[in-house]
Amino acid sequence: MTKNSWSYPRIIAHRCGGALAPENTLSGLRMAARLGFRAVEFDVMLSSDSVPMLIHDETVERTCNAEGAVADIPLAILRTLDAGYKHHRAFAGELLSTFEEALTVCQALGLAANVEIKPASGHEEATGRIAAQVAARFVAANQIEILLSSFSSAALSAARHAAPELPRAMLVEDIPDDWQVRLHDLSCCAVHCAAQHLRAGQLAVIRAEGIPLACYTVNSPERAAELFAGGVTAIFTDRLDVFAADGNPWR
Ligand code: G3P
Ligand code: MG
Repeated sequence: MTKNSWSYPRIIAHRCGGALAPENTLSGLRMAARLGFRAVEFDVMLSSDSVPMLIHDETVERTCNAEGAVADIPLAILRTLDAGYKHHRAFAGELLSTFEEALTVCQALGLAANVEIKPASGHEEATGRIAAQVAARFVAANQIEILLSSFSSAALSAARHAAPELPRAMLVEDIPDDWQVRLHDLSCCAVHCAAQHLRAGQLAVIRAEGIPLACYTVNSPERAAELFAGGVTAIFTDRLDVFAADGNPWR
């Protein structure tokens, strides 16, 4: 992998396995690989004892069989939570995964990983730093492509200082007018944004500058085709079933 780049496939499986598996789980990674996806996105947050875990929300109740804030719960407890049952009882017993476990599975399955650093409020610097350190160790020791991204500039900045060699994407809902300044200040190589807020003028400029642009969350092939026609590099999807329907020509 070239420094500060990531080989974007057209379609990236969102939160590991999209809607076909519990979000941010190892089952999701296996689902994505089985359906021919080459890259996945997942969210990483710190436990109370600073271990990076795969989880999206600041609290565990939406996805797990417990209550409480992730930042207040130690690894030993988080590791016992069922992260599968609430998706479907077929996934009962699926444990909340650590970041390292997820990277190990990605490496074994040949999946590239877009690691979204998702700090709990007040933990931006530590989450960025620790996630980047773990990712950098993994890249150095294994064949795996990792791209870091975050809505948090503080987390991206900490990640940059901890592991400047890892590529980073600036993640925003709506691309701000000063996106070029922010991209430069954070030394990011790509922009990730919400598809619904993307404006044609911004897309044209980003495309003209040759900067990769990935949009979340796109679940219809028609919308994906429109975005690709406009020059979008990649999309994140929950509909792994839809995009893999023809044997996954989107790799
Ligand atoms: O990283 C792209 C996308 O995952 C951002 O939104 O809320 O699903 O993490 P969210
Ligand atoms: Mg995410």
